Amino acid sequence: MPKTIIEPFKIKMVEPIQMTTEKERIGLLKEAHFNTFLLKSKDVIIDLLTDSGTSAMSSSQWAAMMQGDESYAGARSWEKMENSVRDITGYKHILPTHQGRAAERILYGYVGGPGKVFISNTHFDTTRANIEFSGSEAVDCLTEVGKNPAEEHPFKGNLDIPSLIETIEKWGAENVGAVILTVTNNSGGGQPVSMQNAREVSEICKKYGVLFVLDACRIAENAYFIKQREKGFDNYTYKQIAQEMFALADGCTMSAKKDAIVNMGGFLAINDDKLADECKNLLIITEGFATYGGLSGRDMEALAVGFQEVFDADYLHYRISSTTYLGNKLHDMGVPIMRPVGGHAVYIDARELYNHIPVDKYPGQALVCDLYLKGGIRSVEIGSVMFGKYDDKGKLIPAPMDLVRMAIPRRVYTQSHVDYIVEIFEELLENKRNARGIKILKEPEFLRHFTAHFEQE
Ligand SMILES: Cc1ncc(COP(=O)(O)O)c(C=O)c1O
Repeated sequence: MPKTIIEPFKIKMVEPIQMTTEKERIGLLKEAHFNTFLLKSKDVIIDLLTDSGTSAMSSSQWAAMMQGDESYAGARSWEKMENSVRDITGYKHILPTHQGRAAERILYGYVGGPGKVFISNTHFDTTRANIEFSGSEAVDCLTEVGKNPAEEHPFKGNLDIPSLIETIEKWGAENVGAVILTVTNNSGGGQPVSMQNAREVSEICKKYGVLFVLDACRIAENAYFIKQREKGFDNYTYKQIAQEMFALADGCTMSAKKDAIVNMGGFLAINDDKLADECKNLLIITEGFATYGGLSGRDMEALAVGFQEVFDADYLHYRISSTTYLGNKLHDMGVPIMRPVGGHAVYIDARELYNHIPVDKYPGQALVCDLYLKGGIRSVEIGSVMFGKYDDKGKLIPAPMDLVRMAIPRRVYTQSHVDYIVEIFEELLENKRNARGIKILKEPEFLRHFTAHFEQE
């Protein structure tokens, strides 16, 4: 067997990358207030800000888009999307939304509110924000091993079962808005959740009569890890594994911008009739009619095809192997990364890499800035900028980890792009003692990482 796993596609159309020099990037980063979200994409060489909505669609998806039925109600394209989503999730009610957070706002806005708690392995930032915005509390119950970046474990995304039970009992089952299993666990290093863990969560939710929801953005990537790492799935297809996991929950929210390989789209899917009716009302008020929910017919066509394509065995093998390729190269060079390498991204342990920068000087954001300055690479901090809070005296309560995520868009970059990233890290390692901390100059109340202004010390 050849050892190189090649991209299982040919490139039919290309998008030029504008090159910049380090000197130019110093000015560009200052203009963006040291916040890579505020950079213009034309000034980025390799864009690893997110894998969300940044994928390259296939020729089949583009062909399907030409058949988009743009009727307001009952469009053919909606039927295709509904059938495709139901085929995979098995849920009774499918509600289209323009992206994942709209599904979260609708569902958690309805089942949330003051006095409620939501429990997750790790709430993604938009999930947490929607829950907190409704007046509820969001509690993360990740297993201890999932909080240790260097420790090897096949399922570091698992929800900690004893903490789950303790939290339900502490709050009272009637006050639990939902238990949310994020697969894979984006904010916890893109680590997978085992089927066994999903089964246990499902049983507990049934026992206490609590709603169990999957945050299913990366369900196909999670299925890949289950097949490779968990006993009993050798003869399953990736699609069957996903179907089995969906069957354990009462519903899901999904940002189709990840594992349905589209640039825009999402959905909420649930079994309960009453809950679906209430959510449908909110959908119509805020997103659009129930057969398009903020999506054009062509978007729904692309989603219907992409959500099937993503389970292709060759695609998933290439996808996970190319992320692992980058992660292993960095690990071999001595860059501290979250181990084992996750599905959609490589997470650098910036607190460890820049251990001379104190946590309240945001080592993660410092690394994000350096990656851009040295190589024009855009990444994102997932640490104390994103999740840090202040105590009564205004002192930072840091996040459990200060990670930098380099998310890999699906089917966009080739191996030479990845080799370039590795070379930039070689330079960063040589100069790491010169890395400087970061100060926050201006921040909004919610989701501060998107718009905050920073300064290098
Ligand atoms: C785990 C997870 N949940 C929810 C979302 C929100 O989805 P969207 O960006 O489509 O609103 C994301 C997006 O990155 C995510 O990774």
